[in-house]
Amino acid sequence: MTGAGGFLGNALARALLSRGDFVIGLDCGPNAHALEVLSRRFPNLTVVKADICDAEAVEAVFRKERPDVVVHCAAVVGVLASLASPTQLFRVNVEGSVNVFEAMARQACGRMIHISSEEVYGDFLASRIDETHREAPIHAYGISKLAVEHLGRSYGATRGLQVINIRTSWVYGPGFPRDRVPVNMIRAAAEGRALHVPGGAQERIDHTYLEDAVAGIVGAIDCVEHPYDAYHVASDSAPSLAEVAGIVRDLVPGADITVEPGPYLHGGEIAMPRKGALDCSRAREVFGYRPQFDLRAGLAATLEAHRALLAEKN
Ligand SMILES: NC(=O)c1ccc[n+]([C@@H]2O[C@H](COP(=O)([O-])OP(=O)(O)OC[C@H]3O[C@@H](n4cnc5c(N)ncnc54)[C@H](O)[C@@H]3O)[C@@H](O)[C@H]2O)c1
Repeated sequence: MTGAGGFLGNALARALLSRGDFVIGLDCGPNAHALEVLSRRFPNLTVVKADICDAEAVEAVFRKERPDVVVHCAAVVGVLASLASPTQLFRVNVEGSVNVFEAMARQACGRMIHISSEEVYGDFLASRIDETHREAPIHAYGISKLAVEHLGRSYGATRGLQVINIRTSWVYGPGFPRDRVPVNMIRAAAEGRALHVPGGAQERIDHTYLEDAVAGIVGAIDCVEHPYDAYHVASDSAPSLAEVAGIVRDLVPGADITVEPGPYLHGGEIAMPRKGALDCSRAREVFGYRPQFDLRAGLAATLEAHRALLAEKN
């Protein structure tokens, strides 16, 4: 698994390790350390500190470890990160992915589950969309994710790889590493801080709870015959941000959490593409994916975890 020390990768690795799978967890930087900590609990985890931009290092891992399937989570993640350094984004997301595809093709590893994103669609043309919606990414991040999807198709056609793309929405839950709704609302509420989101009250976004995303990805791993190469793994619903803030205030009575009308701006500057719900029928039909956490349940679980963290710190 690439990016195995990250938010999604770490949760996914834990799920696979807990059921007895052998996981080769590849990551670089501080998140590789998180994997080393995890390996003390799970002897079935092999930690590899490597950068996917280093083609030789990537191929050496495949030559030595001989994985059956790759779950590709490593990436520079999010629209804001893509704006901060588009060159680094394309280097890691596209060139790094090519290194992984090349190593797979040369070392006879035939399957990849690539964690893609709803950002491949750009502006949604309807309030609820399926995987046949036209792809017109707006930001460099979505363009890089779509490029990896197309490269996977190319490696499928030319080198026989099976590359399955899991297009997920805004995944949230305990340990979320970025400053983004709804987790920033939960953290502010739990800490007694006011949070006024400067825009987006009527924007509708699909938020996927971490455990649901993990369950969907595991479902895609376990399914060997895929009639499609792209699936939505999301919540299949899209509350407005005003509704999200309302749920946070219900969970933490007295919390001072509000969202202003107008567009939602990434980093206060860049307008978010129009979003909506991701229809998950395909993933349900093919590998039985059914999200278990509605937003209230997911936010309550995130709140509980954050309160436990605060109690540990005090
Ligand atoms: N979290 C979301 O809301 C969301 C939504 C849609 C898609 N995704 C996709 O899911 C995947 C995981 O996202 P996440 O939220 O866990 O992000 P994350 O930033 O927590 O995890 C990404 C991991 O990749 C690692 N990484 C980055 N560059 C690397 C490199 N050059 N070599 C090796 N490892 C490298 C990072 O160290 C990190 O551990 C990404 O591909 C992302 O695009 C995430």
